[in-house]
Amino acid sequence: MCKKEWNDAVESWVDFVRKGKDHYRDELNNPATFRLIGDVRDRLVLDLACGEGYNTRILVRKGAKVTGIDFSEKLIELAKREEAKEKLGICYYVLDATDLEEFSSNHFDVVAYFMSLQDIENYKRAISEVARVLRNGGRFVFSVSHPCFETIIVDGKRTSAAKRYFGIVKYPVQWKMERLVKPFTTTSFHRTLTDYFDALYKSKLVVSRLVEPRPTRKGLLKHPPLREVLVRPQSIIIESIKCAC
Ligand SMILES: C[S@@+](CC[C@H](N)C(=O)[O-])C[C@H]1O[C@@H](n2cnc3c(N)ncnc32)[C@H](O)[C@@H]1O
Repeated sequence: MCKKEWNDAVESWVDFVRKGKDHYRDELNNPATFRLIGDVRDRLVLDLACGEGYNTRILVRKGAKVTGIDFSEKLIELAKREEAKEKLGICYYVLDATDLEEFSSNHFDVVAYFMSLQDIENYKRAISEVARVLRNGGRFVFSVSHPCFETIIVDGKRTSAAKRYFGIVKYPVQWKMERLVKPFTTTSFHRTLTDYFDALYKSKLVVSRLVEPRPTRKGLLKHPPLREVLVRPQSIIIESIKCAC
């Protein structure tokens, strides 16, 4: 079901991302996440749930050797079309992030999920697969909507996760900003910070850094609603390291 939602959203999503309409990406989450990821020159990087490859292309332009996977055939098709236009050397695969058997164990230096782990139902399996394909000492970086502050929908009503924090909640995300070509709906899962930290711990991924991004100054001028992120975070980025222990 979730895969169909993303396949159906392709037209709107690609326009949103590529035409600079995703202000939370451009002026909030990407600057902070790429700062955290740091130098990736000559590193083997896996971009999980990469969508149409916007951030995958940024990683490769920073000098990494990058593989991108997503379960949406349509998004991967569009990513491949970009690769055909400008050959950056990215390998794309249509794969479910919970089953990465295409890749050998202990392979990647960095594995990343940009704002997509919250869309994956079996996040425990997804995280154990990350741990398997990472080399010892390799880094796992993921960003998600902030579990304490995201807006979730419970029994058809929008509410702040702050009021309904404990327990996993599957909820629809209604993308309906005016700047979209057309509105669409996807599915996300609210989980607690403990859920994520437990899954990392069980996979021997040791949390090393955590960032709650603030908007850029340019972003605040360009998109004033980002001001809300000056008082409470919209997202969280967590880095962990695969421990050989
Ligand atoms: C919010 S989009 C983010 C896309 C991309 N990371 C980016 O920043 O542009 C979420 C992505 O997760 C993908 N996705 C959701 N569940 C997945 C799964 N189980 N396996 C692989 N991809 C998945 C969707 O197809 C979609 O491309």
